[in-house]
Amino acid sequence: MTAPRIVVTRALPEEVLRPLRSAGSVWVSPHDRPLTPEELREAVRDADAVISMLSDRIDDTVLDAAGSRLRIVANTAVGYDNVDVPALARRGVVATNTPGVLVDATADLTMALLLAVTRRVAEGDRLVRSGTAWSWDISFLLGTGIQGKQLGIIGYGHIGKAVATRAAAFGMRVVHHSRRRAPGTNAVSLDELLATSDVVSLHCPLTTDTRHLIDAGALHAMKRGAFLINTARGPVVDEAALADALAGGGIAGAGLDVYEHEPQVHERLRTLDNVVLAPHLGSATVETRTRMAQLAAENVVAVLSGGQAPTPISV
Ligand code: DGY
Repeated sequence: MTAPRIVVTRALPEEVLRPLRSAGSVWVSPHDRPLTPEELREAVRDADAVISMLSDRIDDTVLDAAGSRLRIVANTAVGYDNVDVPALARRGVVATNTPGVLVDATADLTMALLLAVTRRVAEGDRLVRSGTAWSWDISFLLGTGIQGKQLGIIGYGHIGKAVATRAAAFGMRVVHHSRRRAPGTNAVSLDELLATSDVVSLHCPLTTDTRHLIDAGALHAMKRGAFLINTARGPVVDEAALADALAGGGIAGAGLDVYEHEPQVHERLRTLDNVVLAPHLGSATVETRTRMAQLAAENVVAVLSGGQAPTPISV
């Protein structure tokens, strides 16, 4: 019997690859970039298992190219909008993600963006680096305090809740809104959240319901002087409408980790001072990325050895 073929679409730490090598013959992409769609289709041919990244689109064309041996696609992310889960289910292929292990890292990065944009840290950094003369002044580069202000969290899952805990420690009041309204206090309608929050932070998955949830209308409904933070998925926000709102003073600022056409960033956003732009760093700590990769590998090893995947995605 031939060893199962395991395809890994982006280099992973050797400690993660080791158990995979014991489970089969492992092909790891040699590129320091995402595979192109053609390269991905070629790479997955006759694979028994694929470890994918959020930059890989796993759809019918990729599954057709893989062929009938494929048993699992393990996505190395909690979000799985890049994976056509029903298409996998139709073929009896298991889909898995990495929930739980990136909650703290993503919540921390959310607070980093929230503080960076409200306190104008990135603007200050640019000013100092530019060599422009500056001195302490009572009204120099003033930001907005967050104590006693309201944070509105859209998507109250594990990450949303972890952000709420952190924001409360900073003295913020928290309200939240979810499609499946979480029981208990502080759950409000989307309209109320937008109209009353000083900072709105997005933590919902990208689905057909949430694509452009924050469009021109939603931005207009936000308080004047409010801030928007997005560490969820770029297409939840209409970036052109956001650039208009930021340029026109409709909202005061934004902190973004994700983009509508990632890795491209809307050109106008790159020119605005009141937006802090991070390159999808939500889960980017050594500890978290290692755990994510390990969990993806654990899913593969479990399925190839005939067991249950620890973190399956249900359709
Ligand atoms: C995820 O896991 O969905 C994150 O966006 C990765 O950083």
